[in-house]
Amino acid sequence: MKQLKIVAVAVLFAFMACNPIVEKSGNEIDQKVENLLSQMTIEEKVGQMNQYNGFYDATGPAPSEGDAKNKYGHLKKGWVGSVLNVKNVKEVREMQRVAVEESRLGIPLIFGLDVIHGQKTLAPIPLGESASWDLEAIEKSARISAIEATATGQNWTFAPMVDITRDARWGRVMEGAGEDPYLGAKIGAARVKGFQGDDLSADNTMAACAKHFTGYGFAEAGRDYNTVDVGTSTLYNVILPPFEAAANAGVRTFMNSFNVLNGIPATGSRFLQRDILKGKWNFEGFVVSDWGSVAEMITHGYAADLKQAAEMAVNAGVDMDMESYAYVKYLVELVNEGKVSEDKIDDAVRRILRVKFELGLFDDPYKYCNEEREKKLLYHEAHMNGALDVAKKSIVLLKNETNLLPLKKSQKNIAVIGALASDKTSPLGSWRVSSDDNTAISVIEGLEAYGKNFKYAKGPEFVTSEVSFYENVEINATDRSGMKEAIALAKKSEIVIMVLGEHGCQTGEGRSRVNLDLPGLQQELLEEVYKVNKNIVLVLMNGRPLAITWADEHIPAIVEAWHLGTQSGNAIAQVLYGDYNPSGKLTMTFPRHVGQCPIYYNHYSTGRPGPSTGVFWSHYTDESNDPLYPFGYGLSYANFEYSDLQVNSTGENEVTVSVEITNTGKVGGEEVAQLYLHDKVASVARPVKELKGFEKLYLKQSESKQVKFILTSKELGFFNNDGEFIVEPGEFEVMVGPNSVEGLSEQFELK
Ligand code: NOJ
Repeated sequence: MKQLKIVAVAVLFAFMACNPIVEKSGNEIDQKVENLLSQMTIEEKVGQMNQYNGFYDATGPAPSEGDAKNKYGHLKKGWVGSVLNVKNVKEVREMQRVAVEESRLGIPLIFGLDVIHGQKTLAPIPLGESASWDLEAIEKSARISAIEATATGQNWTFAPMVDITRDARWGRVMEGAGEDPYLGAKIGAARVKGFQGDDLSADNTMAACAKHFTGYGFAEAGRDYNTVDVGTSTLYNVILPPFEAAANAGVRTFMNSFNVLNGIPATGSRFLQRDILKGKWNFEGFVVSDWGSVAEMITHGYAADLKQAAEMAVNAGVDMDMESYAYVKYLVELVNEGKVSEDKIDDAVRRILRVKFELGLFDDPYKYCNEEREKKLLYHEAHMNGALDVAKKSIVLLKNETNLLPLKKSQKNIAVIGALASDKTSPLGSWRVSSDDNTAISVIEGLEAYGKNFKYAKGPEFVTSEVSFYENVEINATDRSGMKEAIALAKKSEIVIMVLGEHGCQTGEGRSRVNLDLPGLQQELLEEVYKVNKNIVLVLMNGRPLAITWADEHIPAIVEAWHLGTQSGNAIAQVLYGDYNPSGKLTMTFPRHVGQCPIYYNHYSTGRPGPSTGVFWSHYTDESNDPLYPFGYGLSYANFEYSDLQVNSTGENEVTVSVEITNTGKVGGEEVAQLYLHDKVASVARPVKELKGFEKLYLKQSESKQVKFILTSKELGFFNNDGEFIVEPGEFEVMVGPNSVEGLSEQFELK
């Protein structure tokens, strides 16, 4: 007994030593927080819970009229704890100066921004990046984002979005890591580590924010902000695990979500924020509302007015109000009326102040405000190299019949077709609030690095409006100018590279679609070109899975290149010419038809899964149940063979699975070996398969390696409908392979 205790203490010390966040949230900071809290008036406390959108407007840092003037006045009174969207050092410094020098207690502001996939140097959109299955590269990419963002004065990013997404119609699928909770949890934790680094008080790390808590990814019919109604099994086993992983990785903040979840707006949910997040998970950071989501509880029909919305939100555990003006207007009154206890206010303020102390803002509120650093670090060469590395790794080879790819470097007479091929803005993708338009390397530019052995025909215009984050982009569906030239060029060329897809601004928040096709005239262009030349390499640029069933049936080579960020064209060219052997694998199922959505690999079995004769089984009469490309799918220029699957019980609730993988191709390449588990009979039905392990490995030509997975309770168990994690004995099937539908399988029994 004694010995055991000693071991436990030693382990705890070791953990604390390598976890600076735990160390800093210890006594010293708590004392400072208490000391400050004891000096604060109730108005100042509520002020810390108030977040405003930036208000450094055209009139300068001290606005003379309107809403901005009002906010400025609040800042001087100490009624603002945080601002968002203040985008450069000059403006951050000025606002921080007012908070620190002109308010009574001089509490520094925390500056938040949506740094989703980069500040200036952009990495691929998160969905694209997740296709790399490369946790190290993903962490590094978030690290680069943090270095650039902090150089512009920011110290808090509203990322990562860890919402699981199954419906490609939803525009925000681009912002997450796809449909799988196991992978989503790993990627979420890697991104938290990348943003926060291992010393939050450094001047190049920032607080991360796990969002949107929760259910937002399950918006009905993929329509943004729509209702969410999910059962407990899905909530506990699919939606919550990536959030819990982010909390365990030390994420300092959470953002709640716009949606109603099972009848209760997430913003007003005590169950989510108090019982689960701050209770069960013991989360010590703070919760910010989503933009205006406190006020939106009125429109949801849950709160009668803004005052009641404030009461509900704070009682439910929302520590900071983003742009609803609810807390700043009503919280003091609500405390005075006894509807909100001062203890709850104190708890919220403690959480917010603690993060500010952890960031080191009290030691130096201007620590992120260095113009020279800002100039030096934006678009830094090292960041551009990092962006290129992760962009290459994110590309997924979907089809390569007749080995059209990789292109020979001596290949002449190539046609490049499509407006997106020369576009330098669209490949930057959506959700890039501080980046500069026109800064992506286009496909044309990327190919030029390999010599001018191609001719370009744009084809019809793609976008006919100004591209803006706030407005819908208009897509050309009528003007066919340019079509003839493109077809003529294709006819006289040996190989045609067609660059088609979605504009970056067709994805993201508020950009749900009912069609998953190639928008505008692109499908027509593709089919017309195909009539004159079948040697087509289709390069797709998109922010969501597309139902490109015709292309899959006809086009010999298809490359999924997402919106890859600043280095798009270079990454694509290197893959097309084989200087990088593609290794990405899909993290969201591609449907054959939009009517299959939501479609995902880890579904339950129906009572009538079929296939069967007649109609009385679970299917569509006009489309197959199968996806176009399944979760985990992606090809390589190499070839990988799986053999010798071994399963051994190696301890109580521990199973070791090993497999041999051989590169039988002609070049070296990387493979993502994936392990799926099926718990065949359980007290709560389990999905037909669930990802429970993966490893990305490089194999030289003819090389074989053994990959080993160890399954423990964590992988073997599941959450029951009371939210308890349980492991049940019984029969399991384990599958190991290159994607979620192919591979070797074995059975084992857990005793
Ligand atoms: C609304 C979005 O849902 C959220 O993700 C974002 O962080 C906030 N706006 C702030 O921009």
